[in-house]
Amino acid sequence: MTAVMGKQGPDRSDTDRGAGHRSWDELLARRTHALGGGEITAILSLAGATDVITFSGGFPEPATFSTSVLADIAARLIAEDPGVALQYSATEGLAGTREYLSGRLAVQEGRAPGAGELMITSGGIDCMELLAKSYVDPGDVVVVESPTYLGAIMAFRGYEADVRGVPIDDSGMRVDVLAGLLADGLRPKIVYTIPDYQNPTGLSMNAERRQELVGLARRYGFLILEDVAYRELGFATSPGASAAPPPSLWSLAPDVVLQAGTFSKIFSPGFRMGWASGPAEIISRLVIAKQNSDQCAGALGQRMLEEYGRGGHLDRQVAAARMLYQRRASLTTDALAAHMPAGSTWTTPAGGFYVWLTCPDGVDTVALAAAARTQKVAYVPGRPFYLEGAGAGANQIRLAYSRVADDLIDEGIRRIADVVKSGL
Ligand SMILES: Cc1ncc(COP(=O)(O)O)c(C=O)c1O
Repeated sequence: MTAVMGKQGPDRSDTDRGAGHRSWDELLARRTHALGGGEITAILSLAGATDVITFSGGFPEPATFSTSVLADIAARLIAEDPGVALQYSATEGLAGTREYLSGRLAVQEGRAPGAGELMITSGGIDCMELLAKSYVDPGDVVVVESPTYLGAIMAFRGYEADVRGVPIDDSGMRVDVLAGLLADGLRPKIVYTIPDYQNPTGLSMNAERRQELVGLARRYGFLILEDVAYRELGFATSPGASAAPPPSLWSLAPDVVLQAGTFSKIFSPGFRMGWASGPAEIISRLVIAKQNSDQCAGALGQRMLEEYGRGGHLDRQVAAARMLYQRRASLTTDALAAHMPAGSTWTTPAGGFYVWLTCPDGVDTVALAAAARTQKVAYVPGRPFYLEGAGAGANQIRLAYSRVADDLIDEGIRRIADVVKSGL
């Protein structure tokens, strides 16, 4: 790089790469060619826009962050525990934070990870990246739900996986379709699923399919990567109650499931905290992989999460967030019912951040995104959530209601409906 960057001006020789090549893209590694990446960048670039009603990013509502509690904890840790909080941590995470998290999983999942079965990650995406880096060779088959979280597709593609889609319906991944593919000879190494309040559809996998899926994993020898990003955000089925999703895949079958969790949606994405729990043999490989990616999740964030959690603040935050997101979900579906043209359908989430909207046939939601921008409303078109070639998603939209103020939801959906009608 020094030769390229260091020598500039008229005396630059032709042998310098800087003079010879047309674009840095020519130097890109082959494995990056299958990566788009533009969609996530576009979503994040709208994150700061203030005059746009944005249903695009899967962002938590900032009002759920307990800023004064966090400020107190941060000040205390920096003053009293700088040797840990401001230092490198062990790659698998600080012992105290793992102990806290292990206790939390025991309460919520009815099962605590055993020795070596848990590590702290830098958010949820880190687990996918570490798994792909450690276990995916070029051409290995990885099965995902169709549609699914774009970041996971990119993590697997980044290591040249042959990513295949299995459709989902109102009861989650079509495990019967997967069973058919396996019977026909497909041999995935990994099956990736978001069983609870899925991104992008808001739909969940029912208990029966969870049992069937772990049965298939044991029979055919693949690993299930269970992404529980929204698992704790189930909505109350009656006032005061909280929805309990079916047992997690990891609690059903810790021998064949790696659970990827994140605190981004229930605590704050600014800390980049998550976890991976699964077979010790796999966790130990992920720890090795993490040593030469970011080495460890930030110690200050780990300590803050632990203190915040042990003080009961995290449970209170989650309880309040569930109510807030439930209200926004129902404002969103009410607004869709009021404004969308005939022929539109949408999911009714029982938790999480998303409504998945299907517009009438012929509507092209990618083409309409520019019109939406002029109307000062933003959404993510459906197409990037599918593998290309699926030919699906053209008339679909993911609506993240999580960060849209209550009093802007109806107006935002009305604008989207107007844009859709203009495209009919
Ligand atoms: C299903 C799912 N998994 C993982 C993530 C990533 O989580 P993190 O930001 O903690 O890496 C997201 C974020 O949108 C998500 O929707």
